[in-house]
Amino acid sequence: MAEPAQAIHGTLIHSLSQTQLQVLPDTLIILSSSGSIVSLQSNIPSLQVNNFLAVQRIEHIRQTILPSGQFVIPGFVDTHNHAPQWMQRGLGQGMHILDWLDGITFPNEAKFADASHAEKVYEKLVRGMLRQGVTTASYYGSLHQEATNVLASTCLERGQRALIGKCNMNRNSPSFYCETSAEESISATKSCIHHIRTIDPKNTLIKPVLTPRFAISCTVELLQSLGTMVRNDTSLAIQTHFNEAKQEINATLSLFPEFKNEADLYSSFGLLTPKTILAHCTIMTEYEIQKLHDFGCGVAHCPTANMTVGGGFMAAPVKEFLRRGINVGLGTDSGGGYSSSMLNAMRHALITSYARDALYPTFKQAKETSVSGDKGGGKEALSLEEVFYMATQGGAKVVGLDDKIGEFALGREFDALVIDLRDERSGVNVPLDEDDSTPRMLEKFIMTGDDRNIVQVYVKGRLVHGE
Ligand code: GUN
Ligand code: FE
Repeated sequence: MAEPAQAIHGTLIHSLSQTQLQVLPDTLIILSSSGSIVSLQSNIPSLQVNNFLAVQRIEHIRQTILPSGQFVIPGFVDTHNHAPQWMQRGLGQGMHILDWLDGITFPNEAKFADASHAEKVYEKLVRGMLRQGVTTASYYGSLHQEATNVLASTCLERGQRALIGKCNMNRNSPSFYCETSAEESISATKSCIHHIRTIDPKNTLIKPVLTPRFAISCTVELLQSLGTMVRNDTSLAIQTHFNEAKQEINATLSLFPEFKNEADLYSSFGLLTPKTILAHCTIMTEYEIQKLHDFGCGVAHCPTANMTVGGGFMAAPVKEFLRRGINVGLGTDSGGGYSSSMLNAMRHALITSYARDALYPTFKQAKETSVSGDKGGGKEALSLEEVFYMATQGGAKVVGLDDKIGEFALGREFDALVIDLRDERSGVNVPLDEDDSTPRMLEKFIMTGDDRNIVQVYVKGRLVHGE
């Protein structure tokens, strides 16, 4: 056993599979100094913890015995978040995507040319995300190299796990917020990757992700150069917006008339790989769903954004992705929706799936009434187990970290949230009954709780929020 550094005792709950929760009652978790789980033993009453440690000859380690009533879940993974949009959340929610980018988002993101502005906002962002239980985020930065480096350093210092990408955008953006050439964009991207790999050489918390904003904002030369980077370094993750809204799809296909759909477009540049994270995927044909499956891409489902500005007011075919075995995580999208809460993302994933289910109750009707061109089919409604899975283990798969996080198991790193629903502590109005089981408490937390119920947040065994 690696040298034990701390012990945490409490009741754990995580996903055993997409559809199954597992409760680990009275569990003693022992962590190494690097935050890996080196021992995990359930059904040890708290009064016997000292005895257990003595028998194992484990002495002088920090112990956290959680009071009964609290429970522990894996940290949330936000698979799609625009870091510079932290301050603009809530603005322009009824606009269509390209108008919103021009009118609200680009002027806001342009401010990150000033690295001291980035320092201020990213400090608030990372603290705010950790407070809400987001232990891992896949971040789009602005197009600025320096500000993106600030984001990487802030995540590392504050202890948030993250994928970090400088946006590539060298056309169809206002002159005050547009790179001047593909070479400039690639050179700045390489500098950011170098910075991330220099400050975290062992890839303990942060890693780079190529971030062509979307095809509309990238020239052919830029997309080709990014494809070359991926071919030369297959460890690189990629993220982009994909089939987000009608307005965006129409603009994309008129800029690239040689392609009939976005799957063919991005794959022709070598940008669809098992490490690709595709945000939104709201308007999908059967052909493109199959392509995503065949390339092994992950989907960042952003239900809040999809029903507001950032997804064209659509309910994505998430059940179909899951049925096909496509990895799906949840994304808050930051400004594209109005909320950076993964609890909201879970709730909205449920609600939009119910709406989709009502629209497409049967396979036959789905074919006849489909507004999005996909074939629908069968029940479209997600379950609580499925949205919790997507917020944790599913997200971990999408961002390529499922060998480290997403569940509680030997060898995994301890990214976890301690949840407390007891009224006297949090003052939050969660309708708790004395005889509620742990799965019931989890359900109530997801549907009625908020960040005041997240009393401790751990990343890699380090307490990054709470006391
Ligand atoms: N497409 C290109 N940029 C963006 C963005 O910032 N947000 C959303 N939701 N979609 C985009
Ligand atoms: Fe987005």
